[in-house]
Amino acid sequence: MPETIMKAEQLSPQQSEYMKLTAEIMEIRKRGERPLAFIRTYGCQQNVADSEKIKGMLAASGFDFVESPEDADFILFNTCAVREHAEDRVFGNVGALKNLKRKHPQILIALCGCMMEQEHIANRIYNSFPFVGLVFGTHSLHHFPELLYRSLTDGRRVFERGNDDKKIYEGIPVRRDGSFKGWLPIMYGCNNFCTYCIVPYVRGRERSREKDVILREARQMIEGGFRDITLLGQNVNSYGKTLAEPVSFAQLIREIDAIDGDYWLRFMTSHPKDCSRELIDAIAESRHISKHLHLPFQSGSDRILKAMNRHYDRKKYLETVAYAKERIGNVSLTSDIIVGFPGETYEDFKQTLSLIREVEFTSLFTFIYSPRKGTPAAAYDDPVSAEEKGKWFQELLDVQEEIAAARCASMVGQTERVLIESVKEKTGELNARTSGNIIVELEGDKSLIGTFQNAKITRARNWILKGELT
Ligand code: 5AD
Ligand code: SF4
Repeated sequence: MPETIMKAEQLSPQQSEYMKLTAEIMEIRKRGERPLAFIRTYGCQQNVADSEKIKGMLAASGFDFVESPEDADFILFNTCAVREHAEDRVFGNVGALKNLKRKHPQILIALCGCMMEQEHIANRIYNSFPFVGLVFGTHSLHHFPELLYRSLTDGRRVFERGNDDKKIYEGIPVRRDGSFKGWLPIMYGCNNFCTYCIVPYVRGRERSREKDVILREARQMIEGGFRDITLLGQNVNSYGKTLAEPVSFAQLIREIDAIDGDYWLRFMTSHPKDCSRELIDAIAESRHISKHLHLPFQSGSDRILKAMNRHYDRKKYLETVAYAKERIGNVSLTSDIIVGFPGETYEDFKQTLSLIREVEFTSLFTFIYSPRKGTPAAAYDDPVSAEEKGKWFQELLDVQEEIAAARCASMVGQTERVLIESVKEKTGELNARTSGNIIVELEGDKSLIGTFQNAKITRARNWILKGELT
């Protein structure tokens, strides 16, 4: 049983004092002009949601935001550790700031997020990037105001990796990036320890926000005009288990769904081992939950699933999918897949191909396995060459393209409710999205952005649909 977590704590009044102090010193330094911040976010939506909190705290400290690091007084990269490629990009982009710091020594460069919770990374930053003045991990968000103030005033570099990975802090101001599409974290951390994954080491143990706090935030978002709300957690199906009064995820989404308004509710990520019939029933019976299930299966081979410590097999996964298809009309299924896990053979990989053919996913997020220091799989024998894994990966993309194209083609002639999200700069076309998370491009006026419309699907181009407003 997961351990029961203490009640959430509130952001301390001391942190609010630090925000005021920062605003005061920056006002003096900038001679009355507002200080400017540039934030770049790498990785998943959980990081995007964390950046929205950091922006909330920066706004309360007097900052405005800019689109380019060259214009900023404070530069922050919120980093991702899930694959080596993401880490390399961060190192490359931080290195590129060296000249900027030389030209403008008064700017503060900071790094935060999952990468910074790893000791070897924080040490590398400390030793090789002396122009980085502030480093903090995912467990230090609730005293970011203090860390910022100290970095601006101490004249010394501030490095902090938290160990406070069991608590939840409420009351942190949030500055959302969007006005109609937004993220709502419902839990943090992960207890699953899939053998390839760094997340449990850098985001700590699973802990859930109180149901009433989530309902209040959902209501505020809906009343504030949000049309597409995504509940976030590493494994939303185990929501509520650590609360003093346990609540199931299905119960939570039923209660959010009962809030009146015109909106779609989404969630990610669902772990197949915990995706219950109760949850699928809740989706089927809801008014607002989109008919979309992101259910990462990672591999179609039972042998590899076991080595990954996933706690389900192919049969159980397919049973869940069959139930979802039976209960939720035209359900859109998406998934994450890892190719080239240590010890995977071409025979195992063929099981993955056959599974994607059987399920007919709308879209897939596909990754080549990347060894993560400190995870069990990093020590496993990995005899298949990168070149061979690359070929398998391409084969997977080809098969999925065929499946997605057929799925999209079957939608031609249908009318779909879509949310208009943005305008394409080049063509002036509107980008919209269906409840099943499929992109539809259509002609229309940009004043429609942020509204629901009906679109007749006229054409399919691979996994993108073309449509017209009806
Ligand atoms: N290598 C490749 N992909 C990974 N993922 C997580 N860890 C790794 C890794 N070490 C993928 C999984 C997960 C998604 C968010 O990232 O597919 O579901
Ligand atoms: Fe990583 Fe597995 Fe947790 Fe997902 S469920 S965050 S893949 S350990």
